[in-house]
Amino acid sequence: MSNQALLSAYDRQEAESFLERVSDIINAGAQAIMISIGHRTGLFDVMSTMPAGTSAEIAAEAALAERYVREWLAAMVTAGIVRYDAATATYRLPSEHAACLTRKGEMGNLAVYAQAIPLFGSMQEKALEFFETGGGSRYEDYPCFHRFMAEDSDQTVVTPLFDTILPLVDGASERLESGIEVLDAGCGRGHALIAMAARFPNSRFTGYDLCADAIEHARNEARNRALQNVRFEVRDLTGFSEPRRFDLVMSFDAVHDQKDPQGLLSGLYRSLKPGGVHLMQDIGGSARLENNLDFPMASLWYTASCLHCTPVSIGQGGEGLGTMWGWETAERMLGIAGFQSVERHFLPHDPANVWFVSRRAPDA
Ligand SMILES: C[S@@+](CC[C@H](N)C(=O)[O-])C[C@H]1O[C@@H](n2cnc3c(N)ncnc32)[C@H](O)[C@@H]1O
Repeated sequence: MSNQALLSAYDRQEAESFLERVSDIINAGAQAIMISIGHRTGLFDVMSTMPAGTSAEIAAEAALAERYVREWLAAMVTAGIVRYDAATATYRLPSEHAACLTRKGEMGNLAVYAQAIPLFGSMQEKALEFFETGGGSRYEDYPCFHRFMAEDSDQTVVTPLFDTILPLVDGASERLESGIEVLDAGCGRGHALIAMAARFPNSRFTGYDLCADAIEHARNEARNRALQNVRFEVRDLTGFSEPRRFDLVMSFDAVHDQKDPQGLLSGLYRSLKPGGVHLMQDIGGSARLENNLDFPMASLWYTASCLHCTPVSIGQGGEGLGTMWGWETAERMLGIAGFQSVERHFLPHDPANVWFVSRRAPDA
């Protein structure tokens, strides 16, 4: 195409509306950081229990510094999250907004996910190096990653565990009640395992994770709850091998960012007793970019991939599969690992993830 033709094809109106869209994106990024602050400080929770209040009243109720609270409130008002009455200089969080921004909100707490924006943003300088060198990161590079992750899985895994998730595995609850061996591979802070250990005292639960700080947190919680049937250990699962030891093996969002996902899945298969079951949650996108254009919060998952899941795998010397490795890849790898039957489930409460129930044949 000639320069003249390119110039006449240029759509000025489209350029202007795209500029507006980019402005909106930058503004929304700032709003996400402030939603994260509202979650971490407890300001949303405090405001959800108060009538309209001045910045001084809200700051006092939250035990925070008024000057910062006032600035945060201004960001929330201009974002359309908090309502402001100029006549009385009071602020109010509508209950319809509190429904998805608070710890007791009836629609879950989306503010948890807003934390991802400052968390991944804090990696910018290191990421710039990775783009040049191809290098990778360590879990310790991410401030509060395991706290964020535990809050995420509290919503997608722990709360619906007994009513929605364990029923995916036929007969699981009955077997857990009578007493079986269970592994959580890449357990993080171990909330799912702790909930199961409390519910099923006849079963024995083991949690392994690479990160000592996450395991310490899990151990403390198990100790505080006086649970005798759960054990947590710092363990690099690369080359994992404990043949025929477990009846149920679980991994919640913990395969794709490992050094060697295929090696791990094969090790998990071998660690099952014949007839045992592997229950796996992972990101539910497709391996093909063109299939993910309408996937919920797809840009967030590709960002998580670029700034967390890919670099932590590469940082372990791994292949860097990435967050959006895709359910097709996961399913293929489960087959290569040896699983004879693999069921795939998409659950309404957890639109970003796919759930796999894979079985080792009783005679395998
Ligand atoms: C996305 S987090 C999920 C944690 C937890 N399952 C949850 O749902 O909260 C992935 C976990 O895998 C662990 N992990 C990554 N590579 C590992 C490895 N090579 N060995 C053991 N754990 C590993 C990380 O430490 C992290 O806790």
